[in-house]
Amino acid sequence: MDIKNLGVLASGRGSNLQSIMDACAAGRIPARVMVVISDNADAYALERARYAGIDAVALNTDDYIDKAEYEKHIAKILQEHNVDLVCLAGYMRMVGPGLLEAYAGRIMNIHPALLPAFPGLHGQEQAWRYGVKYSGCTVHFVDDGMDTGPIILQAVVLVSDNDTADTLAARILEQEHRIYPEAINLYCTNKLVVEGRKVRILA
Ligand code: GRF
Repeated sequence: MDIKNLGVLASGRGSNLQSIMDACAAGRIPARVMVVISDNADAYALERARYAGIDAVALNTDDYIDKAEYEKHIAKILQEHNVDLVCLAGYMRMVGPGLLEAYAGRIMNIHPALLPAFPGLHGQEQAWRYGVKYSGCTVHFVDDGMDTGPIILQAVVLVSDNDTADTLAARILEQEHRIYPEAINLYCTNKLVVEGRKVRILA
């Protein structure tokens, strides 16, 4: 089977990155993570990558004249690693037009709420504060909006009266670690067909 090359962009602890690397290593996804890029040199995600023997690159946005230059460099690194699919995993920046064009239809993100509800930062806490009875997580393709791209998979998590924002976030995270590798696997096995806003999953 054709093995796809993944590039992961992460700004923080990298638990989703870990779930992706683990799924690849276990043969649950016909893919390998070729490079992890972070805008935060202290991101634990970089440590996880190095530990797994994967190229880990820290970029400092202050070193670039603007976002376009910064993203041009990201695209170059991804291309040098022959990346087929870019996975955002706790990447704390909006993707700009340069990178979107370079990887059109080939960038995914995981969001910790049931989109289109509670986009942006702290989706779990936003949902908990709002008082919803269920929340969850969403894997979607990335477009130029904030968490607005076509939805690939979602998982629902019930909210109980005893939940705090943290306990809810922990249960959502378990589901993130399940559905993100699953969505990547669907992509890598050519099972995703995007028709406008809709993503059809082939049998
Ligand atoms: C996750 O909750 C993800 O949904 C959101 O950022 C968080 C990243 O966590 N986009 P981790 O770095 O993967 O542990």
